[in-house]
Amino acid sequence: MSHEDFPTDSPAVVTCGLPYANGDLHIGHLRTYVGGDVYARALRKLGQQTAFVSGSDMHGTPVAVNAEQAGVTPEEFALSYHERYAETFPKFNVEFDNYGHTHDETNTAVTTDIVSRLVEGGHVYEKEIKVAFDPVEEQPLPDRYVEGTCPYCGEHARGDECDEGCGRHLEPGEIEDPTSTLTGNPAEYRDRVHKFFRVSDFQEYLQSFIGRLEGTSNARNQPREWIEGELKDWCITRDLDWGIDYPEADTDLVLYVWVDAPIEYISSTRQYTERVGADEYDWEDVWKVDGEIVHVIGRDIIQHHTVFWPAMLHGADFNEPRAVMASGFITLNGKGFSTSRDRAVWADEYLDEGFHPDPLRYYLATNGGFQQDVDFSWDRFRERVNNELVGTVGNFLYRSLLFAYREFGGTPDAELSGEVRERIDEAVDDFRAGVNDYSIRQAGNAAVRLAGFGNEYIQRHEPWKLADDDPEKAQVIRDCVQIAKAVGVLFEPIAPDAMERLWASLSEPDSVHDAELAAALAPPADEFGEPTELFEKIPDERVEELNEKLQARVEEAEAADADDATEAGDDADAPVADLEPLADERISFDEFQDLDIRVGRVLAAEGIEGADKLARLEVDIGVEQRQVVAGIKQLHDLDALVGERVVILANLEKAELFGVESNGMLLAAGEEADLLTTLGDAVPGEKVR
Ligand code: MF3
Ligand code: ZN
Repeated sequence: MSHEDFPTDSPAVVTCGLPYANGDLHIGHLRTYVGGDVYARALRKLGQQTAFVSGSDMHGTPVAVNAEQAGVTPEEFALSYHERYAETFPKFNVEFDNYGHTHDETNTAVTTDIVSRLVEGGHVYEKEIKVAFDPVEEQPLPDRYVEGTCPYCGEHARGDECDEGCGRHLEPGEIEDPTSTLTGNPAEYRDRVHKFFRVSDFQEYLQSFIGRLEGTSNARNQPREWIEGELKDWCITRDLDWGIDYPEADTDLVLYVWVDAPIEYISSTRQYTERVGADEYDWEDVWKVDGEIVHVIGRDIIQHHTVFWPAMLHGADFNEPRAVMASGFITLNGKGFSTSRDRAVWADEYLDEGFHPDPLRYYLATNGGFQQDVDFSWDRFRERVNNELVGTVGNFLYRSLLFAYREFGGTPDAELSGEVRERIDEAVDDFRAGVNDYSIRQAGNAAVRLAGFGNEYIQRHEPWKLADDDPEKAQVIRDCVQIAKAVGVLFEPIAPDAMERLWASLSEPDSVHDAELAAALAPPADEFGEPTELFEKIPDERVEELNEKLQARVEEAEAADADDATEAGDDADAPVADLEPLADERISFDEFQDLDIRVGRVLAAEGIEGADKLARLEVDIGVEQRQVVAGIKQLHDLDALVGERVVILANLEKAELFGVESNGMLLAAGEEADLLTTLGDAVPGEKVR
């Protein structure tokens, strides 16, 4: 592994956290898988050799518990979900190079090998511990078979994790006031002998590892607390029939699910090599020599990926991860998803409603930063599809290519202009920087912004007003075709299907999936046919319909649930926290003083024509009157803003947005751009401090 910018000379592997094979997929799950897929495609655009792998998590008590309820064996149960997942992901254009599962021969072999190496290295020991038992059933109660109170934060906790409170991994015996989830009986603690992985052997290693780790800041910062403090050893065996056997003849223990699950990352890569041959992609190079390993996960499993997993890899002499990208959660209309209350948008449901996968990919990948929690609502979905995908991207591509086709039968014979070449270069740089910052949103938005520029460019030059023999006409259209081609390259990771269709419209001979960044500036085909529209508007009525359906479902589920008050609370009604982690670095008071923040009063506000989001405001800031541009066109009733008190950063560099100068920045909070104002009646020009 290197820490050089991508692309590097080493092969990369992008992995996605394994879904437990125990329930239907909803769009909350898809965020991780779409994120991983977009990232893997984006790396390939940079020319990085990349494999994209994952698999189903077959073991563990979540699967065992649900299989028991369904009255089938865990294996049957898990395999049927595994098969469904393997079919569902490609329907969202999530194209794994290998999608395996943890219960197959490869993973059993690799897991046995890694655990044996840890044992040989002296990192595993035996200890007698207290394990919860159901006294009536005479049965041990590992993990999800027991619930109680978290000893760290006092919240209700289930088995091995405090999923409603502090998020910590809980060791066997740690849960307080345990009850059996099988019978509801109070559980007893009894002595049993188990195997432990001595994580404390790796404290120093982990401390240096975390300093090198790249990825999203939540994944780099959250573990610091754990690895600075005393590192607890980790119980790696369970009293269960379902799992991979602990590699020692005279025990009947199985390995804890969190041991064999991440090892599937390796096994799945190995299966990929077995299919394509080591000349094309060598799993051993990646995992044992110098691969760039990037894990894409949900933010609830950061500890496993930044503490236990790298310690295991290091202890068994494998390569360490280069980066961990941990995504935020998804809420639905501001509330947590709740699978038991059917408050969810299911993956199958989305497709059954006739939606194409690309719009959802776009929404999930760019609606917020990857590590932010993001809210999904059909209204917001419609708004973003209609305004951005259709209004900006689709509109530009269709109208410019249609014009080119009608007037020139393809690409006009002219030189690409310097301005457009530069703008495309800028978009490519932006994309590349996004990938290197592990920002899927930035990489995705590079294309959208470029299309926005395209719209503005065409509007500015009005080629339809130019005479046929005016060389400017050929020039402008030549430029637009190049912008369209560049958008195709840069937007492929987000909207692979739509961009493949664009590629066909451009008569490109190869697949857009194989195109690398250099294609953005490569000459387009001389001749091409009539383009098709790439994205479809969602009518308002559809959204009403979908909202009603969802509501009816939730009410039904709640009614059915009402008399079952004892049901364990799940993720419903979790507060929405669209929150980024706090900045690490402090600034001095002097630095703060450098910001000249003033109270202002809005004198005028109007939308900027041709721009989807931008509004022009005139603001009185006492000492003078300022024109500022702000991205609030769709988020506020502009007329109603006149007369309102706002807050302006007055000494921000001037900028030009959509041809309009912005002299200062309007301060606002959150996705909806709530405008800042003052609680008293400060007058325009007063300083904020
Ligand atoms: N199945 C686990 C979950 O859904 C994730 C396993 S990720 C891996 O929380 F790292 F173990 F692969
Ligand atoms: Zn807790």
